[in-house]
Amino acid sequence: MPRVLSGIQPTADSFHLGNYLGAVRQWVALQETYDAFYCVVDLHAITVPQDPRLLTERTRIAAAQLLAAGLDPDKCTLFVQSHVPEHTELAWVLGCMTGFGEASRMTQFKDKSGKVGTETSVGLFTYPVLQAADILLYLADQVPVGEDQRQHLELSRTLAQRFNHRFGETFVVPQPYILKEVAKIYDLQDPSAKMSKSSSSPQGIIDVLDTPDVIRRKISRAVTDTGSEVRADEAEKPGVTNLLRIYSALSGDPVEAIEARYAGAGYGAFKKDLAEQLVATFAPIRERTNAILADPPALDRILARGAGRAGKVAAETMTAVRNRIGLLPATPSLSRTAVADPP
Ligand code: TYM
Repeated sequence: MPRVLSGIQPTADSFHLGNYLGAVRQWVALQETYDAFYCVVDLHAITVPQDPRLLTERTRIAAAQLLAAGLDPDKCTLFVQSHVPEHTELAWVLGCMTGFGEASRMTQFKDKSGKVGTETSVGLFTYPVLQAADILLYLADQVPVGEDQRQHLELSRTLAQRFNHRFGETFVVPQPYILKEVAKIYDLQDPSAKMSKSSSSPQGIIDVLDTPDVIRRKISRAVTDTGSEVRADEAEKPGVTNLLRIYSALSGDPVEAIEARYAGAGYGAFKKDLAEQLVATFAPIRERTNAILADPPALDRILARGAGRAGKVAAETMTAVRNRIGLLPATPSLSRTAVADPP
């Protein structure tokens, strides 16, 4: 079975519509036909300051939302990145093969470091190397993500090829799995900007866990363009085009069919129906998330099982990597615990 891997940061109390359409929905579909590994990337989250208590809570919320959205722990491996220490070990090895200039070209680093200013950490700079480690550890063939991750995936591919070239075939060179229609969902208040947890205003974002009333209000206030025609036109009508793409993704109807349905009806009826599509998709996810969060030990068991499965694959890959690059193998019979000094 070919393999997929993807990750999502636990940096907010809820995922947003961009995360859902750009990534999570594909994760759910791909678990049917791929050996799928999905992780909540808590170590990526700490590249900018996080409140420790909130980070713990949001990691559970993230995992619960993924299950509520349809990930099935019997069909995929869902785990928390920090539960598999090989991610950071491989990141170090790959970091030693990444050019400083190469890392400096990552546009997301430039954007984010611009926002964080003097607090910018070395971790934020090497973030894409850790992401490459996430992917390469599992020898993933495909990586389902939104458009904003394309450059990071390109780096993962480069590093896989470089390692294979220097040390012999070890890694699979991963392919991005990006669905054009939903690759970039835009801010509802500023349709020239990506919907983003860190830069959009609360009104510009629909959260998966928003209540139905909040969803309705945000859609009714979404920026539309001059005129009243429900028509896709990226240059002239970016706001309506974004809403049409969202409607199409949720309903499965082609954009042209939706345009035809609302011909002459104006924005009001269209927005009202779009809001109901969103409510119908997100209300059940919200309810299931709350039910899953009501039983933290059960959730933690699912994550432990996931970490066990992921850890097995990761350990195998790391052993191969250590051998390839010439690290002296530790002697199992002389393991740290077996020969530990008496207390
Ligand atoms: P993150 O947590 O920012 O976002 C999770 C996923 O959501 C997608 N996404 C969007 N898609 C469409 N429109 C939008 N407005 C939108 N906003 C976000 C992202 O592209 C992503 O797929 N670096 C990654 C996490 C990561 C990862 C990995 C991904 C860490 N290791 C390994 C894949 C493989 C990130 O910060 O995603």
